[in-house]
Amino acid sequence: MTIDRRAFTLAAAAALAGCARKSEEQGSIKMNRQSFGKTNDGESIDLHTLKNSNGMEAAIMNYGGVVQALRLPDKGGATVDVVLGCDDLAGYLKEASYFGALVGRYGNRIGNAAFKLDGVEYKLPVNDGKNTLHGGKKGFDKRAWSAKDVSGADGPALQLTYVSKDGEEGFPGNLTSIVTYTLNDKNELRIEYHATTDKATVLNLTNHSYFNLAGQGEGDILGHEVTIEADRFTPVDGTLIPSGELRKVEGTPLDFRQAHAIGERIDANDEQIKFGKGYDHNWVLNHPAGALSLAARVREPKSGRVMEVLTDQPGLQFYTGNFLDGTIHGKGGMVYPHRSALCMETQHFPDSPNKPEFPSTVLCPGQEYKTTTVYRFSA
Ligand code: GLA
Repeated sequence: MTIDRRAFTLAAAAALAGCARKSEEQGSIKMNRQSFGKTNDGESIDLHTLKNSNGMEAAIMNYGGVVQALRLPDKGGATVDVVLGCDDLAGYLKEASYFGALVGRYGNRIGNAAFKLDGVEYKLPVNDGKNTLHGGKKGFDKRAWSAKDVSGADGPALQLTYVSKDGEEGFPGNLTSIVTYTLNDKNELRIEYHATTDKATVLNLTNHSYFNLAGQGEGDILGHEVTIEADRFTPVDGTLIPSGELRKVEGTPLDFRQAHAIGERIDANDEQIKFGKGYDHNWVLNHPAGALSLAARVREPKSGRVMEVLTDQPGLQFYTGNFLDGTIHGKGGMVYPHRSALCMETQHFPDSPNKPEFPSTVLCPGQEYKTTTVYRFSA
């Protein structure tokens, strides 16, 4: 029998008197805050660094809730940063790739930049062909969130709150979103989303981190091996709006039920692959609705690093950085070439507000939107 020494120590600590336990917890929690500059509107932005007891670190900004860095301890004591991003706030203010950001109010696309709710048509900003992408021109990724240290027994935790006003980017209802990032000692970055509204609205929150498990800037991700727990996906048209069909992955380059290297079929002669310019599709996860379960696994063969994605959401947008083109110079001056990162955006299906056959993304007053996604790392 294996004894988990850390769990045993924590349990023993928990059995101690309240004040003794408190000081032990406080002693193990590590969160640092440093100023990261000001937005063009004069809002102060901080970078919060959460550190666990294995030496893993997540640096998170209250601008866009961006995961600016995710450093994993490596054999020999060095660390490797596995997410793309910028060194300073100025970089994020001009960047349009959603590096590491919280995306909302509606992550992914809404077709023809409009939807109807309770008989009323809402028109949204057009920012992707004729569609709306990632919440419009100034989505949640470009907003200053308020930040609070909510570290506790699970580890350092940062709570971010943003109140989106009724009519902002065309969406109805004052919507309060609270997102909590926790870094625990199982090397999991846990993201808990919560929202309430005062008027019926639609929402689809996600995180848009760009991962490269070889290290940010270390070439392309074509050798990364991916498994996705999905038998079906939502096929799209040339503007990446789903038709409404749930199509089997079987026999297509989108079949990741067994591990495949990303590069193996990414340029296949396949209509869906052509529309996405590679992988940029939503998979219909097999797990029962609402159950936090494994959605995907990514392995970088040279380092052996693994990322597992767990979610309770119905879908996963797997995007392979097809729009990266080598013009962006990211952290440490690293160039980010074509397909040099991958995103695993846990979410509801694209264009759900216009697809009554998809799981609903409507939130009504009195209801609570609550979802969890976990990115778990090991080597
Ligand atoms: C998502 C979309 C992509 C692209 C990126 C951001 O993953 O599906 O098409 O817009 O965001 O560049």
